[in-house]
Amino acid sequence: MFKNVIVRRPGKSLIEGITSAPELGKPDYELALKQHDDYIKALESCGVEVTVLESLEEYPDSCFVEDTAVLTPRCAIISNPGADTRRGESALMVDTIKKFYTDEQIEYIKSPGTMEGGDVMMVGDHFYIGLSARTNEEGCRQFKEALEKHGHTCSVVPLEKVLHLKTGVNYIENNNMLVSGEFIEKEDFKSFSKLIVPESEAYGANCIWVNDTVIVPLGYPVVEKSIREAGYNVIVTDTSEYRKLDGGLSCLSLRF
Ligand code: GLY
Repeated sequence: MFKNVIVRRPGKSLIEGITSAPELGKPDYELALKQHDDYIKALESCGVEVTVLESLEEYPDSCFVEDTAVLTPRCAIISNPGADTRRGESALMVDTIKKFYTDEQIEYIKSPGTMEGGDVMMVGDHFYIGLSARTNEEGCRQFKEALEKHGHTCSVVPLEKVLHLKTGVNYIENNNMLVSGEFIEKEDFKSFSKLIVPESEAYGANCIWVNDTVIVPLGYPVVEKSIREAGYNVIVTDTSEYRKLDGGLSCLSLRF
């Protein structure tokens, strides 16, 4: 179960965030703020305490806090983002993370290693890390070493198409995994019970499990139905403005 969540308010500079889908248009900042409010309410209704950090105008993508660290029951691993414009975000999370972890529990990914938390999926004590455009081989090596030091295990999953591992695959506990596109047939995930996400709803693969509730983005009815049929409580919340920046539900928080 998760007790804590960290989020960061989006700044007005959000509209300059990195995107692979400029055809979706720029985010509407006021609507993004409202969606962020709703996201926090959804999390709180799952019984977690939400720490809300101030916006950072100098970092347009800094509301996507998931990329700055990986927080486990035993340790915190501070990332080193692969995107140049995001590199400084991780250091700005450390003071907050120190409120929850001792210095001995905190590890750091260092250059030339790069790693973003969106590439990391936790399944109990085991962690999958995507080798991606943002997380390089040295980042994977350092991450595995840090996890093993604290008694976790790790395996590397090379990505072919998507930005981050959790863009396309998300574990929702009870051996259930939402899988889309390149992950549907991946050998690494063959032992899980798969909820297949159709290509037309690929963005909907990025759902988050929070204490037996699954938060699902608005507008993905096939995904929502399959999660309900698997027996979960579901909260639907709109992330349309974050989608314009390749951001999803998981990207917007650190859950631990
Ligand atoms: N816009 C989120 C990211 O590309 O990191």
